[in-house]
Amino acid sequence: MLLEASGIVKAFGSFRAVDGADLALAENELLGLIGPNGAGKSTFFNCLAGEARPTRGTIRFRGEDVTMLSSAAHARLGLARTFQVPVVFAGMSVRENVMVGAFLRHPARHRAAEKADEVLEFTGLAAQAETPASALGTAGRKRLGIARALATEPLLLLLDEALAGLTSAEVEGAIELVSRIHARGITLVVVEHIMEVIHRLTQRVLVFNQGRVIAEGTPAEVTADAAVIEAYLGRRARRLAR
Ligand SMILES: Nc1ncnc2c1ncn2[C@@H]1O[C@H](COP(=O)(O)OP(=O)(O)O)[C@@H](O)[C@H]1O
Ligand SMILES: [Mg+2]
Repeated sequence: MLLEASGIVKAFGSFRAVDGADLALAENELLGLIGPNGAGKSTFFNCLAGEARPTRGTIRFRGEDVTMLSSAAHARLGLARTFQVPVVFAGMSVRENVMVGAFLRHPARHRAAEKADEVLEFTGLAAQAETPASALGTAGRKRLGIARALATEPLLLLLDEALAGLTSAEVEGAIELVSRIHARGITLVVVEHIMEVIHRLTQRVLVFNQGRVIAEGTPAEVTADAAVIEAYLGRRARRLAR
């Protein structure tokens, strides 16, 4: 297994945003992670990527216990992630933003710039290399987040709602990019709300609800699962009742 997380709990006071989640990820897999808003998906990613320390549980990456390591240490070992709300360094150009990732493996500035240019080409951002990152719209910022993560040369990439807020044409472009990343041999976990995208990209999906994995299977299997339907519809019913 490339990544094995077992019994992960992340508590904020008495509230458990993640409440005993397990994940076993094989090398080269492209795993979907779905679940209603507030299910704990982003918090789980934070634990996996070292941005948050789990309250309980163990995370092994390439066989090494990384549970208490920093996000920088995770990145060095080959685990990268993007954020649901893209983090861009607004005062810097698109290329400089990607260089921030590239410096991890290429401390010399000209080598980092070379690596950044290669990634900008791969992600379709080359034409905007000199553009201030602040000038990018949602799709561009999401793509830039992916580019910066790729520049760290990860083995595993966690994408947190990389397609949310995109137009249907932009979604197509993003699906194509995720497929090409996977074809490069990078293992992926994608948090995604659009089921059609999950069907097209993944063979296996985990469904999160209230901090736990409530279902697992092929996209067709999980969408037919009664507990999954209840997790989504139960929530919609509560919202309608307000
Ligand atoms: N730093 C935090 N402090 C307190 N509660 C948090 C914090 N981060 C997330 N939560 C709560 O944890 C729950 C899960 O959030 P999140 O992981 O963002 O869910 P998802 O990504 O599945 O929508 C939510 O109820 C959220 O309000
Ligand atoms: Mg989230």
